[in-house]
Amino acid sequence: MLFKDTSLLLFSGNANPVLAKEISKHLNISLSTIDVSKFSDGETRVKIGENVRGQDVFVIQPTCPPVNENLMELLIIIDALKRASARRITAVIPYFGYARQDRKDQPRVPITAKLVANLLTIAGAERLLTVDLHAEQIQGFFDIPVDNLYGVNAFLEYFKKNKIEDLVVVSPDVGGIKIARAYAKRFNVPLAVVDKRRIDDKKIEVMHIIGDVKDKNVLLVDDIIATAGSISEASEALKKAGAKDIYAAITHPILANPAIERIEKCPLKKLIVSDTIPISSDKSSDKIEVISIANLFGEAITRIHEAKSISILFH
Ligand code: R5P
Repeated sequence: MLFKDTSLLLFSGNANPVLAKEISKHLNISLSTIDVSKFSDGETRVKIGENVRGQDVFVIQPTCPPVNENLMELLIIIDALKRASARRITAVIPYFGYARQDRKDQPRVPITAKLVANLLTIAGAERLLTVDLHAEQIQGFFDIPVDNLYGVNAFLEYFKKNKIEDLVVVSPDVGGIKIARAYAKRFNVPLAVVDKRRIDDKKIEVMHIIGDVKDKNVLLVDDIIATAGSISEASEALKKAGAKDIYAAITHPILANPAIERIEKCPLKKLIVSDTIPISSDKSSDKIEVISIANLFGEAITRIHEAKSISILFH
């Protein structure tokens, strides 16, 4: 135990209460009471409903759309907890928004991922727990400990149950090779890469496929599915290159327009996503299946609270 008599308390904002509930079930504790509402002028109003003095507090809040709303809620909750004398505050951000703005790749643009890191630490976060950060280097934007879990651990169970023969794992872009390699290693199958070029926020062009996919079933893996441009273009190109069934496992289902339309039209057979981001009912597709990442977070939170190693969750 980190501090004798220090309880683990779990709080959730409004971004993903269902996931927070699932995590609390895994931990076998109730979510602590908090009221996160609005003042009449639209400002966020937070009131912590119980004593947190001296406690080890975890706040679960992905910064998914509406991103600014959810981020601001998180910052205000952390501020309230800090001022209420929590012993330690861990921001549990299953989906870390703004992660794709992580470098100055054009003149006069911000590095918003760094700004968010600054905001979180200034608010009072003392640790960050997340999964499949868009770029692992973002850990270096923080001067507090960051635990970046691997989503593959949550997806593994699904693919053990639904075994796919003659499999090749494919990364839809060069930046995703690390995640793809983790899957290929777990499944002990070969790896291929799609060489893609992003034309703009919504448009993708596939240049080449590096590796052998002919007559093989494909598992495309990625951290984020936003407009589904990457996955739909990749799956078209893989089909043309002779792939058989194409599946995708993607951790963070942003599913911004026109993602559903693209998923429906493209040759993807099944898209398995996690519940880091809630999927609204207007974004349904029979091709999409959601698996829960709650146990992975539950295990990590227990280990952080008990000051035990969590490296077992990275293998
Ligand atoms: C890009 O580097 C990411 O890993 C994803 O491939 C990308 O964000 C997906 O975006 P979209 O679904 O809009 O192509």
